[in-house]
Amino acid sequence: MDSFSFTFLIWCLLAFNHILPLTIQTIEARIPESPLQCNQTFCILHNSYGKWGDRKDCYALNATYPTTEQELHVAVSFAVEHNLKAKVVTKFSHTIPKLACPDQAVQNSFVISTESYNRQIQIDVANSVVTVDAGVGLRQLIDAVEASGFSLVASPYWEGVTIGGLISTGAHGSSWWGKGGSVHDHVVGLSIIVPASKAEGYAKILRLEAHDPLFNAAKVSLGVLGAISKVTLRVEPRFKRSITYNFTSDVGLEDLYVDHANKYEFADITWYPSQHTAVYRYDSRVPLNTSGNAVFDFIGFQNNPTSISEAVRATESLLEKTRNTHGKCLTAAATLAFKKATANGLKNNGILFTGYPVIGYQSKMQTSGSCLYSQSLLTSCAWDPRIKGLSFYESTAIFPASIFRDFILDVKKLRDLNPEHFCGVDNYNGILIRYIKGSDAYLGQSEDSIVIDFNYYRAKDALTPRLNQDIWEELEQMAFFKYGAKPHWAKNRIIAFLGVDKKYQNYNKFIEAKQQLDPQNVFSSNWSDEILFGKELEKSDGCALEGLCICSEHRHCSPQNNYYCSQGLVYKDARVCRYSKSTLPSSL
Ligand SMILES: Cc1cc2nc3c(=O)[nH]c(=O)nc-3n(C[C@H](O)[C@H](O)[C@H](O)COP(=O)(O)OP(=O)(O)OC[C@H]3O[C@@H](n4cnc5c(N)ncnc54)[C@H](O)[C@@H]3O)c2cc1C
Ligand SMILES: *[C@@H]1O[C@H](CO)[C@@H](O)[C@H](O)[C@H]1NC(C)=O
Ligand SMILES: *[C@@H]1O[C@H](CO)[C@@H](O)[C@H](O)[C@H]1NC(C)=O
Ligand SMILES: *[C@@H]1O[C@H](CO)[C@@H](O)[C@H](O)[C@H]1NC(C)=O
Ligand SMILES: *[C@@H]1O[C@H](CO)[C@@H](O)[C@H](O)[C@H]1NC(C)=O
Ligand SMILES: *[C@@H]1O[C@H](CO)[C@@H](O)[C@H](O)[C@H]1NC(C)=O
Repeated sequence: MDSFSFTFLIWCLLAFNHILPLTIQTIEARIPESPLQCNQTFCILHNSYGKWGDRKDCYALNATYPTTEQELHVAVSFAVEHNLKAKVVTKFSHTIPKLACPDQAVQNSFVISTESYNRQIQIDVANSVVTVDAGVGLRQLIDAVEASGFSLVASPYWEGVTIGGLISTGAHGSSWWGKGGSVHDHVVGLSIIVPASKAEGYAKILRLEAHDPLFNAAKVSLGVLGAISKVTLRVEPRFKRSITYNFTSDVGLEDLYVDHANKYEFADITWYPSQHTAVYRYDSRVPLNTSGNAVFDFIGFQNNPTSISEAVRATESLLEKTRNTHGKCLTAAATLAFKKATANGLKNNGILFTGYPVIGYQSKMQTSGSCLYSQSLLTSCAWDPRIKGLSFYESTAIFPASIFRDFILDVKKLRDLNPEHFCGVDNYNGILIRYIKGSDAYLGQSEDSIVIDFNYYRAKDALTPRLNQDIWEELEQMAFFKYGAKPHWAKNRIIAFLGVDKKYQNYNKFIEAKQQLDPQNVFSSNWSDEILFGKELEKSDGCALEGLCICSEHRHCSPQNNYYCSQGLVYKDARVCRYSKSTLPSSL
């Protein structure tokens, strides 16, 4: 196929993708499957991608589904009394690392699902706060708050999460204004049910507020302190937002990112290095009487015809197999052009993009996820594990704002060596740059920070190397080890957590709180320990391919496929798996 027809095909796929969902009639829904599947013998827990970092399933012997705080209390008591290892599991399970996996010893493991614990949303109008059951979904909360004349200021961009789950991993949107983009910094109180002595009935409820030293531990707790029952969040009078995307050159990005966040309350930047393009989001609060009733239905979270998701995946896999970097760049360019034409999914009237600025209520502009509500078996989220759709890794690194400039310059150096090598990330969402403010949470960010996300192809098989994977590995190691960036707790491959215990100045205070609240480690497992303690794992053949290790020998890559452990191109200390057709790279 020549490059024009190829580009045209991708355009058609994407355009079709955009229009078709409106025309499909209800048959039977393909809403996301429950991540927790139990039968009489045991339960299996998956994340939303249906595949954990190491591709191994995790199990529990038994599950319980409390509906009230009282029942949640009973569930924790039950686990403690019977010496079980417990984890709280949500309806969504959208965290990529195995934080919610109970212990490997299945016979002692118990999961407490908050799937049905989502009844109470109490809005205190006088004090502008809302208190919710921890299993309440983000969309459910946003709609309830707006119906009472308030807005939730910060939230992640994706709405398929629960309040308990999202604060536990430090989830965020983007802002340096006010309390900033992290949801946990808008939390003013929470209740957590922790193990207790027999005399106390094996579990007790702690009601924590700002003045309590344990509060800073409990705001971002990875689920290892106990079961959060209630969360109280600050809300503000209902407001609207006005959004304009500026698709422009990436020249000067390193000098603009600070001003950009200072100028626009909900600023972000999407950087497509291979396309030399930066997309600045000019996004500000506007008065409630400004006209506009738009919806931000972010393109990546739309309800896609499964046939399209499968075709896009098949195309990507073919380009991988044929080592067609140029083909990846054609799709990256087509994807970017399509995003520009559709404003990333902004819809002025709720249906179509007709021009900037796009103005709408906060409840419709911050967070989305229309694929969660598929009305048909023919549509789903693009990554739904039941279809042959997208499968990707997701690296998310958090930098102190001041050092981010040097990181951008390093990435530009790497890009300039061969811009085409970056097309693989630009086929997803490039490098998404967001802002969060300094926080008191022990496992939050102690200073104003920048968060970057980038996604890249994950093969069907763990031992299949991927086109230009050395570039993603260098980017990953540069972020986490050269610049000491912190990994987002809910994303990343396991190597991103190496040495994480040295990166938080209040890390020890968190560990002390954990020992105080859960001395028997009821809520910890091998899996969550692996993440929280950032230990290096034993290396095995091919381990670097999945980000389970950093290679130090060729066998950690895939010598049989000509991928050898090699030095980074810009960050020389990086050790990455690089394709080399003829010559074995000289020793490291
Ligand atoms: C498509 C997609 C888009 C995303 N977008 C963003 C984004 O824009 N910004 C961002 O920051 N993140 C984002 N994330 C990550 C997401 O916000 C986090 O993974 C979030 O933690 C998921 O919430 P959940 O309810 O699914 O929790 P789970 O993944 O089920 O649980 C997370 C952790 O919290 C614990 N936990 C859950 N509930 C409780 C409770 N009641 N008490 C104690 N512990 C509990 C669990 O045991 C587990 O350790 C995204 C993820 C996906 C898949
Ligand atoms: C439970 O499910 C597992 C795997 O899905 C299966 O092997 C097992 O036989 C099932 N047990 C029962 C009682 O259905
Ligand atoms: C499963 O958990 C419930 C508590 O929710 C308990 O009553 C029941 O005995 C447990 N079953 C097994 C087999 O452990
Ligand atoms: C878009 O950004 C560029 C570079 O910062 C700037 O020169 C241009 O004026 C911006 N366009 C708009 C419409 O703001
Ligand atoms: C919005 O309300 C303010 C007063 O609250 C008023 O001054 C302004 O003219 C109104 N704007 C519009 C577009 O109605
Ligand atoms: C998991 O933890 C248990 C103790 O809870 C330990 O006995 C076991 O060896 C660990 N397994 C692995 C694979 O680390």
